[in-house]
Amino acid sequence: MTDDEPAERIRTDGGTAEGADDVALDPWGSSTVSDYRKLFEEFGIEEFDEVLDEVPNPHYLMRRGVIFGHRDYRPVLDAMRNGDDFAVLSGFMPTGDPHIGHKLVFDEIIWHQQQGGDAYGLIADMEAHSARGIPWDEINEHSRDYLLSLIALGFDPEEGELYRQSDNDRLQRLAFELGGKANFSEFQSIYGFDGETNVSHMQSVVTQMADILYPQLDDPKPTVIPVGPDQDPHVRFARDLATRMRFFKVTEAFASFELADAERPLVAAAHDAREEYAEDPDVPRCGEAADWLADADLDAAGVLVAESVRESAVEKLENAGMEPLRPRIRFFARQATDEAFEALIEDIEGEKRRYDQHIDAFDVGVDEAEELAREVEAHHGGYGFIPPSSIYHRFMTGLTGGKMSSSIPASHISLLDAPEEGYDKVKSATTGGRDTAEEQRELGGEADKCPVYELYAYLLTGDDDELAKEVYDECVGGERLCGGCKEQAATMMREFLEDHHEKREEAEEVLDSLDIDLETERRGVAAEH
Ligand code: TRP
Ligand code: SF4
Repeated sequence: MTDDEPAERIRTDGGTAEGADDVALDPWGSSTVSDYRKLFEEFGIEEFDEVLDEVPNPHYLMRRGVIFGHRDYRPVLDAMRNGDDFAVLSGFMPTGDPHIGHKLVFDEIIWHQQQGGDAYGLIADMEAHSARGIPWDEINEHSRDYLLSLIALGFDPEEGELYRQSDNDRLQRLAFELGGKANFSEFQSIYGFDGETNVSHMQSVVTQMADILYPQLDDPKPTVIPVGPDQDPHVRFARDLATRMRFFKVTEAFASFELADAERPLVAAAHDAREEYAEDPDVPRCGEAADWLADADLDAAGVLVAESVRESAVEKLENAGMEPLRPRIRFFARQATDEAFEALIEDIEGEKRRYDQHIDAFDVGVDEAEELAREVEAHHGGYGFIPPSSIYHRFMTGLTGGKMSSSIPASHISLLDAPEEGYDKVKSATTGGRDTAEEQRELGGEADKCPVYELYAYLLTGDDDELAKEVYDECVGGERLCGGCKEQAATMMREFLEDHHEKREEAEEVLDSLDIDLETERRGVAAEH
C-alpha cells in the first residue's frame, strides 16, 4: 500500500465508481472526481467543515456535505455576519438543457442573495461558442432556459443582475484589461492550451476572469464563486490576476530589510521577547534579536518553521546590526502612478518614512493599511480587487451510475423534463440496493452508493433534514426496500417538476421585462475547438 492509498476510503459522494478518473481539475474535460480528499492535499482546497460553524443558518447543501470545500470563504462569512457588502456570482455554459446538477449552483446563488449578497448569474455564451462549438441559435434558446429556471427557483432579478457575456461591454473592457496581465505561457501551464487552441477560447478565459471580478467593478467586496471543483483552476487564476492588478502591496516589516512570509512570525516572536534580551527594551536592536533567535526554543514560542527559515531570519537580523527592531507596515508601490504614491503618503496618519519604492508607517494597523491602500487605488484609476473566494460542491452521480452528463439524457433529470418523464427516470435509476429483498433486510442498502439517495439528499428533501436522515437510516438499517423507496422519490420528483414548470411560466414575464437580449441574431460559424 502506498501513501496515497489509504486502507479505508470514506465515501459519501454517492459512490463514484472505484478507480474512476484520476483527480485532474480540467474545466473542459471530464468532470468526475474519484477522491475528493486529494483535492485538499494536492490542490489546497480547504474543507468546508472547518467553516461550517461560522455560517449563519447554513444551507442544507452545506449541512449535508454536498458543498465540501472552499477557497478563502471566511471574508465572505465575516461580511455576511457583520452586515457588510459581499457578492455571489456564478456562470452557466448554455450547451444543453439546465439539469438538476445546475440546480445546486442556482440554489447556492439564491441562498447567498437571501443572506444579503449582491447576486449575479451569467450566461457563458462566449465560452459555449468558442470552447464547445455550440451554434448561436442553440445558445440563445438554452440561455433562456437557464435564466428561467434560475428565476423560477427564487433568484430576484430586481436585486441581482443577470447578463450574457457577449452583451456586456463593461465586462469585455475588464477582460481586455486583465488580459494585459496574463500571457500564453500561463494558459499553457494552467489549461494545457497549445498552438492549436483557437484564440476565441483564450478570449473566453479572460472573459471568465472578468466575470469573477465583475461584482467588484464599482466597489471592492468579498465575493464567492460557487462552482464544481473542475473550475478551481479558473478561481486560482482569477485570484492571482486580482492581486496583479493592485497598485500597492501591504506587508508587515520590522526593520529596513524585507522578510519572507515564513520568516515573519519568527521575527515577530523575537520582537515579543525583547524584554528578555534587549539592553534597552524600548529600543531592541536587530543584532540582539539575532542572538536570541539563534537559540530560542521556537516550540515554546509557538512557531513552527524549518531550520533553514530560522537561519535566514537570523542572518538578516545580524546584518542589520544596531538598527532598531521596530514593527511597521510597509506599503510597496507595485505599479502605482506617482500621483497615487504621493496621495498614499499624504493619507497615512502618524509617523511614516518614505523610500524610493515603498513607505513605512509606524502608527497604522494592517487592516487599516489595507483599506487605505484600496481607497487610494480606487481614487486613482485602479480597482482595489479583493481576491475572490469560492465554494465547491460534489458532482451528482448519474441516475444510470457513472457520471451525470448533459449528453446522456437518462443519466440526469433535466429541469425541462416533463413531470412524468422525471418520474420514469427515477423509477429506472440504479440503486445501492442488494440483489434480493432478503439480503437487503439483512445487510441494509448502500445509501452512500445510491444515486436515488443522492436525489433525496441533494434535492428532494430540501430543508427537511429529518426526512433525509430517515431515508438514510431506514436504508442502511434494512427497513427500506428499493422499490418503495424509488416510488416515493419518483413521486416527489414529479411534484418538484410540476411545481418548477409552473414557476418557470411565471418567470417568463419577469425575464421578458429584463434587459437581456436573447434573440438578436449573431452571425458566425461554430469555432474550431
Ligand atoms: N466555465 C464555467 C462552466 O464551464 C462557466 C462560467 C463562466 C463561470 N464564467 C464563470 C462559472 C464565472 C463561474 C464564474 O460552466
Ligand atoms: Fe437507494 Fe432507497 Fe434502495 Fe436505499 S432503499 S439503496 S436509498 S433506492
